[in-house]
Order: sequence, then C-alpha cells, then structure tokens
Amino acid sequence: SAERTLVLVKPDGVSRGLVGEVISRLERKGLTLVAAELRTLEKATAETHYGEHASKPFFGELVEFITSGPLVALVVEGPRAIEGTRGLMGVTDPVKAVPGSIRGDYALEIGQNLVHGSDSPESAAREIDLFFPGLKG
Ligand code: CMP
Repeated sequence: SAERTLVLVKPDGVSRGLVGEVISRLERKGLTLVAAELRTLEKATAETHYGEHASKPFFGELVEFITSGPLVALVVEGPRAIEGTRGLMGVTDPVKAVPGSIRGDYALEIGQNLVHGSDSPESAAREIDLFFPGLKG
C-alpha cells in the first residue's frame, strides 16, 4: 500500500535552480506529488521540524541555513516512499553519497546537502502535519 513522505528542496537547491531536477527524479522513480509549496520558514517552524537535533552542535547553523531563503516542501506518495526517497537522495554527507544520487551528484557540504527526506513513518507523519496541516489522505 502507498506511503507518504515529506521532501524539502532546501534553500541551496532553490538558489541553484535544482528544484526541477529533484522533482523530476522523484517523479521518474514513480512517486506521485501530493502537495508542493515554495515558502520561507519561520525560525520556530524550523526548530520544530529539526527538534530531534536540538542538542547537536550544528543546530544553530542548521536553523539559520534552512530559514535563509525559500525552500520547496513536497509530499510524495508511493510504495515504500520513505526508503525510496532516501535512496534517491543518498546519505546525509554528500561526499559519501554515491554518484547517481541527488546529494552524490550535486552537493559537497553536509550543511548544504540540497534535500531533506523523512527518516521513518513517525517522522513522515509529524513532518507532513507540520508543513501541510489538514492534508487529506
Ligand atoms: P537533513 O536530512 O535535513 O537532517 C538534518 C540535517 O543536519 C542534515 O540533513 C544536514 O544537512 C545537517 N547536518 C548534519 N550534520 C551536520 C554537521 N556536522 N554540520 C552541519 N550540518 C549538519
């Protein structure tokens, strides 16, 4: 059965003109777009979204970066959408991400790794609700 996940094309992806590339790769994989919005996050929203990283030394930088300009929030749907999206993105550190993945092909810095994808069904539910409250199943 279908699963949903939240994907962010981060401000670096928007400023570098890679939104279409990211959406295209998600669509070509077979995932369906369910919601999409260009927006600049409030600090509070960013802090909530990244709440699990609140104690990390890079938290301040992370919030600063993710609120630095518009991002594109997407909800995509398909069989095993969470794992499938994470495979397309590649691992968090873009230097370790395999070529062929989005981060592996287009990024070098861990703090500017172009995309975010929910890492579990629980995170997906929480993040989708944060970005698109009331989105219907
Ligand atoms: P993301 O998948 O959005 O989830 C948390 C983000 O924190 C991660 O991608 C990275 O962009 C960022 N991050 C992880 N480790 C570091 C680090 N050491 N320095 C800066 N940012 C980091």
